[in-house]
Amino acid sequence: MSAPLQPAPGVFYWPRYLDMTQQHWLSAEVFRLAESAPFYRPEMPRTGHKLSVEMTNFGSLGWFTDAEKGYRYEARHPFRGTSWPPIPELLLDIWRATAGYRSLPEACLVNLYRGRARMGLHRDSDEPARDAPVLSVSLGDKALFRFGRARKISSTQTLLLESGDVVVFGGVARLMLHGIDRIFPGTSSLIPGGGRLNLTLRRVTIPDATQKEAADQGGDRPPNALFALDTGRG
Ligand code: SIN
Ligand code: MN
Repeated sequence: MSAPLQPAPGVFYWPRYLDMTQQHWLSAEVFRLAESAPFYRPEMPRTGHKLSVEMTNFGSLGWFTDAEKGYRYEARHPFRGTSWPPIPELLLDIWRATAGYRSLPEACLVNLYRGRARMGLHRDSDEPARDAPVLSVSLGDKALFRFGRARKISSTQTLLLESGDVVVFGGVARLMLHGIDRIFPGTSSLIPGGGRLNLTLRRVTIPDATQKEAADQGGDRPPNALFALDTGRG
């Protein structure tokens, strides 16, 4: 694994972390798993306006929102009533190698952007485990990712995310604003039917300190304690 770029404090960026073979495998695996956990368009709290992005989840917890109950995590697919499919091992490997966190993620939000789908600036703040970073993997069409710690547009930055890219944000950037201004249709042929997939891994619950989890087992400790510098944790 090469050293990441660091476009801002607490933000780490690995361009083309995944090679083409891995990208093809992962994209196919996402659509295979989505056969038992179909994509849907969630609703904004209260207004019920549907997001332009289609979503599903993998893992023991999935992020969901609807008009009545708003943003939350659910252990089951809201329309199927079944548990979410497991997070693919390839994604857990990326987490182990880059997140520098003592436990594995519980949630993998799968965002599917087709056509003019976009995502407004928001913070990921529904997770009690704020000491864990957020890890995002991009597949398919290029996208303009906007991020910053203050809402003022002049204080935000952008990254053009491409297929196979990995971004990890944590520490002082854990609650940064981020969103997708737009995707660039036709810039990749990876996704059947075109578009972009984004896979976001998050630890939701605070890990039990006495319970040694798989993140520590069988492999190396993450090579770089990326967030120690930024958060002051040892
Ligand atoms: C998200 O914040 O949920 C998605 C970000 C992305 O699509 O890159
Ligand atoms: Mn987000």
